[in-house]
Amino acid sequence: MSKNKLEKFAQMATFKNVVQPENLNVTDFEYKGKWANDFFHNNNPITLELGCGKGEYTVALSQIKPTCNFIGVDIKGARIWNGAKKALDNNNTNAGFLRTRIDMIDNFFGEDEVEEIWITFPDPQPKKQNKRLTSAHFLNLYRRFLKDGGIVNLKTDSRLMHFYTLALLKANGIVPTIFTDDLYSSDYLDGILGIHTFYENQFLQEGKKITYLQFILDKDKEIIEIPKFEFNEEV
Ligand SMILES: C[S@@+](CC[C@H](N)C(=O)[O-])C[C@H]1O[C@@H](n2cnc3c(N)ncnc32)[C@H](O)[C@@H]1O
Repeated sequence: MSKNKLEKFAQMATFKNVVQPENLNVTDFEYKGKWANDFFHNNNPITLELGCGKGEYTVALSQIKPTCNFIGVDIKGARIWNGAKKALDNNNTNAGFLRTRIDMIDNFFGEDEVEEIWITFPDPQPKKQNKRLTSAHFLNLYRRFLKDGGIVNLKTDSRLMHFYTLALLKANGIVPTIFTDDLYSSDYLDGILGIHTFYENQFLQEGKKITYLQFILDKDKEIIEIPKFEFNEEV
């Protein structure tokens, strides 16, 4: 491991805005169902950024919405370090970070604990549909801790990810509240959708279009996976 990474890991262990559970299989995680009270020391709603990387959305949203709490989730500590350091330096006390695998995220949040989810530039997993962070498997995982009517946002450069998610929603009778396959040419662009992540900046430099999709998940309705999604631009 590089010296730089080791230094970041040592610093992270002292960051009070980062939670790094030693065991991801916990059944009695201390903040489960209690993040607002026991971690943020308030009673404000919670939004997650899944696969947050350097946590650009977590940090920027915490500044835009000081009366909400934001938690960036990623397995890679050296990436999380960037967002955590920035939030500490800026005294954004409503931003936190959780280092875990998203596959095990329901070990860390209680029923109805989360109001909104952002999924920012996830790995599109071209060959493994059920590993996509918007697959039925993951959406059903999120239903365990999302409030009824909870919002899910997907921002991506991957047209496969965007159109796959749209197809999955359609098959499950969910009408997206917003969708555009070219965010920066659309009327939806605002201060929040205009936040750029690290990966997004790279994709924009490559001239890629950015897509955005927002939908509401019904707590009581199981999401059923669709057959292997064959992607073509005409979908
Ligand atoms: C392509 S990067 C995007 C990072 C950031 N959202 C951005 O836009 O710059 C995907 C991120 O998701 C994280 N990730 C992917 N699968 C994950 C999983 N199952 N659990 C936790 N993190 C995951 C990776 O570690 C990586 O930081």
